[in-house]
Amino acid sequence: AEGIVIAIDGPSGSGKSSTAKGVAKARDWRYLDTGAMYRAITWWMVSNQIDVTDAAAVAQAASRPVITMGTDPSAPTVQVDGTDVAQAIRTDEVTGNVSAVSAVPEVRERLVARQREIIAEECAAVGGIVVEGRDITTVVAPDAPVKLFLTASAEARAQRRSKEVHSSDVAATQAALARRDKLDSSRAVSPLTQTADATELDTTGLSLDEVVGLVVKLADEAQ
Ligand code: C5P
Repeated sequence: AEGIVIAIDGPSGSGKSSTAKGVAKARDWRYLDTGAMYRAITWWMVSNQIDVTDAAAVAQAASRPVITMGTDPSAPTVQVDGTDVAQAIRTDEVTGNVSAVSAVPEVRERLVARQREIIAEECAAVGGIVVEGRDITTVVAPDAPVKLFLTASAEARAQRRSKEVHSSDVAATQAALARRDKLDSSRAVSPLTQTADATELDTTGLSLDEVVGLVVKLADEAQ
């Protein structure tokens, strides 16, 4: 296939989004935030009064919302049925329910298929795409030439996420992250897992520029 895929997985707050965007910008590639897709479908379920704890109901509704992703790393967008949901998918309600929705196999099947289409289209168009999530190195793009697993200490991750959401309660943020990571790592289908063929990158003591520089170097070597 034409183009290079950079696959990045890791827990919440490990620096995936900032890193992926930075690398895509540095090389004029595209950027795909798969977490935003799971958040978008969760937003739709909540907005349509689907009980997210009812896996059968979620499975049945999974194909109804149309999710559209804009992959410019300088201005990524996410739409559901033509409505911009960039802000709406970041609420505590969506964040608190996304792990339940993303654990439903029909939801994953549908989004993974769409992610693979986007990857093929964008790679052909601009020569590269950086994709971040929880199952990119394992399920969505296991043949990617660059596969990374980003980590950071629980404290560093909570600090970063607190800053992002403008919260001063770092302890509460750390507890919420721990809960979500546990759910995402223990689900039956495509759990967040670190595999031996993905390069581990601990970002705890590194600046964003340093991490982006390291990943760009790996990408250049892989081409
Ligand atoms: O990356 P972000 O924190 O926005 O992801 C939100 C949620 O989406 C995760 O907690 C996880 O439940 C789900 N997700 C997933 N697979 C991916 C990306 C995200 O299950 N590839």
